[in-house]
Amino acid sequence: MLVLRENDILTLLGGLSPADTRDLLAKFHNLLRQYSNSVYQKSSERLIHQPERISIVTKNGNTALFMPSSVTTSTGVKVVTVPVKGLIKGSINVFSPDGDLVGVLNAAEITAFRTSLAVMIPFELYQGDKKNIIVFGAGRQAEWHIKLALLLADVDHITVINRSGPGRIGELFETLRSNYPKTQFDILLKHDPKYNASLEARLKDAAVVFCCTPSVEPHFPASYLDSKQRFISLIGSYKPHMQEIDAKTLRSGERIYVDTKEGCLVEAGELIMANVNEAQLLEIGEIPNGTVLKDSGNVVFKCVGMGVMDVFMASELLEMAKVKDLGLTVDDF
Ligand SMILES: NC(=O)c1ccc[n+]([C@@H]2O[C@H](COP(=O)([O-])OP(=O)(O)OC[C@H]3O[C@@H](n4cnc5c(N)ncnc54)[C@H](OP(=O)(O)O)[C@@H]3O)[C@@H](O)[C@H]2O)c1
Repeated sequence: MLVLRENDILTLLGGLSPADTRDLLAKFHNLLRQYSNSVYQKSSERLIHQPERISIVTKNGNTALFMPSSVTTSTGVKVVTVPVKGLIKGSINVFSPDGDLVGVLNAAEITAFRTSLAVMIPFELYQGDKKNIIVFGAGRQAEWHIKLALLLADVDHITVINRSGPGRIGELFETLRSNYPKTQFDILLKHDPKYNASLEARLKDAAVVFCCTPSVEPHFPASYLDSKQRFISLIGSYKPHMQEIDAKTLRSGERIYVDTKEGCLVEAGELIMANVNEAQLLEIGEIPNGTVLKDSGNVVFKCVGMGVMDVFMASELLEMAKVKDLGLTVDDF
């Protein structure tokens, strides 16, 4: 049994090349295709099992989430706590098909990585301009969106927009400025005296907008965007009152791409407030291999995340760690 600490996971994910990332993306997309296909299969025929997650709110107000799933070759459960104060923490336990515990992994970095990787599926299929990117939020999710976008696309300019300070991004940008000398990295904070005018101007210039916050208010009104096509992703909302964009922006494409129709219709505030129905959604797992996105209007993607994503990524990391001889081995568990 292998234990992967946060630092082991950072080492493994930090060493990914563009080619490694594309290989991982292709495998991940196939997993989501199996998920989308599984709704048409009898339970006994499915390779993917994704029951609903369970949550417990303790007397102290800490929320524990239990996310079970199986991809047949691995079965697992992620248990994370959203504490009243501080960052989400927890672990992913991975079991062999017949029940041996094969790995225990720190969940925080994997969660941010797999969500950002899910966004990279439609981002990679999107054929439009990707040179100027705006990111709302300065946490772990924002960090991985930025790192993966730089691995997969030719980016001229990235602006992070955040509520308070630069968060994790200040330090990240220092490193990225030397690794990507041709790319411009900026931070715009809400307390900037010219915030609204600057936000509108930057959004007009942007080709891609990644939203990575638990906001309950849209980050901008639809009027801040012109008719130019953009890629817009949303990963932050997970409750009916949460929203990162308004209904008009949400509906600004031919359809809304999602990771899971079932999950998004119950959890994504933007979709619930805009009264979106299932027929307006397309799961990225329903996009056949070899397809490129040639939509007119914006390409909007909402992801609420699923346990199968964690078990898939945890299993991949365990294989990568064996090759690189990383982690703590526990024999005779
Ligand atoms: N879809 C999925 O599968 C999935 C998976 C994991 C997490 N998430 C969600 O993704 C979001 C970001 O996660 P993270 O791990 O990056 O969190 P994080 O490290 O805590 O960062 C959160 C970021 O959001 C900003 N923020 C917090 N509350 C806000 C509000 N009310 N309005 C505007 N900005 C706000 C914070 O700004 P300050 O620096 O000013 O505090 C910070 O920049 C969260 O909503 C989280 O629940 C989604």
